[in-house]
Amino acid sequence: MVYSLCIKCRENQEVIQLLTLDLIPKLVRAAYADDVKTVDTVSIMLGRKLKKDYPDVSKEILQIAADYKVGADVYRSIDISPVPVDRETHDSLVNVEENVETEPPILSADVEDQFEDFIKERSLIQKFLQEGIRPSNSLLMYGSPGVGKTYSARWLAYRLQMPMITVDLASTISSYLGRSGQNIKSVFEYTKRNNIILFLDEIDAIAKKRDDETDLGELKRLVNVLLKEMEDCPTSCIIIGATNHPELLDRAVWRRFDRSIELGVPAEGEREKLFKRGLDKWYDTMSCISFLIAKSASMSAADICRLCDHIKRQIIMNESTSIDYLAIKELCHMCHFRTKDEKVKVCHLLKSYVPNISIRGISESVGIPQASVARYLKEDDYE
Ligand SMILES: Nc1ncnc2c1ncn2[C@@H]1O[C@H](COP(=O)(O)OP(=O)(O)O)[C@@H](O)[C@H]1O
Ligand SMILES: [Mg+2]
Repeated sequence: MVYSLCIKCRENQEVIQLLTLDLIPKLVRAAYADDVKTVDTVSIMLGRKLKKDYPDVSKEILQIAADYKVGADVYRSIDISPVPVDRETHDSLVNVEENVETEPPILSADVEDQFEDFIKERSLIQKFLQEGIRPSNSLLMYGSPGVGKTYSARWLAYRLQMPMITVDLASTISSYLGRSGQNIKSVFEYTKRNNIILFLDEIDAIAKKRDDETDLGELKRLVNVLLKEMEDCPTSCIIIGATNHPELLDRAVWRRFDRSIELGVPAEGEREKLFKRGLDKWYDTMSCISFLIAKSASMSAADICRLCDHIKRQIIMNESTSIDYLAIKELCHMCHFRTKDEKVKVCHLLKSYVPNISIRGISESVGIPQASVARYLKEDDYE
């Protein structure tokens, strides 16, 4: 009797949990659709249902809903004061990023060491201060697009367990001409007040615009404000800058950063790790991995991540097709084979993975004329 009651209780519990879980997709859908009314209703239902088993989570959800209702800032419940806004348009000047678990970026050993050094310094901040040494609190990342600057900034925030605010100087601050200096000041004020990480993405936007003859005065002032604010920023805050164009960056701003770290396109070992992470369970079952690694030499980490996503999608959609064939076909869409050796090799590889493939099929997959494919397949010197 008691036993059957327990089973009943457990079943009830599971039913309640299922009902609660059912709310999550509704909430996600409403959030994506900007449907604030449904977000509000579902959040309150969720908060109430979680009250008994997860009182802290329930309290936080209901607090956010209550803050929203009275027009207060929704970030109040994570101890972040309302975000700064432009005085006239009332547009928010920053994005608050709560830190979420992030896998480490795949970088060269040297860059990884530099990040680890920075993290270590931050963990020893008190020791540094006791010895009268100022710990570093700023770093600049530079490198071509897609090497992982933004991703690394998010990962750093996660490792340091600090909230991060992002300012895209190109699209926000500098578009409020006349008020940019004031806006920069507000952003720094906010950073200081909340002891958080300030991420200045595309920081070169200021230096770039300084060359713009039409508005030299305003932008010169802006750089001066930035320099002064960076100098005044206490070590409890962190400033991370990122740029794709280090050559355009104002040298004084550059010098103001404690560290500058160059992120490069991934070398062979890093590409291997990127494919291993990106292709997940399919990595070990693919025969063409070494070809993918060799031929992705000029790709950025972001390109390789994208390539892996394309390959995985194709694998799911074409269950009966060779995964190596699909992988190489996707690679061909993203990179061009320049030398004849490369073209010969890729044609032979496709033929080996799909023996009954037609010349036309190879031609369409690789983007090489059919006559050339036929010729390449006859080449004897291919090993
Ligand atoms: N070094 C890396 N390690 C792992 N993933 C990376 C790396 N670099 C880029 N990515 C992937 O590519 C995406 C875009 O990279 P991003 O950080 O925006 O590049 P950047 O800011 O340098 O232009 C990231 O969200 C991440 O998924
Ligand atoms: Mg970026």
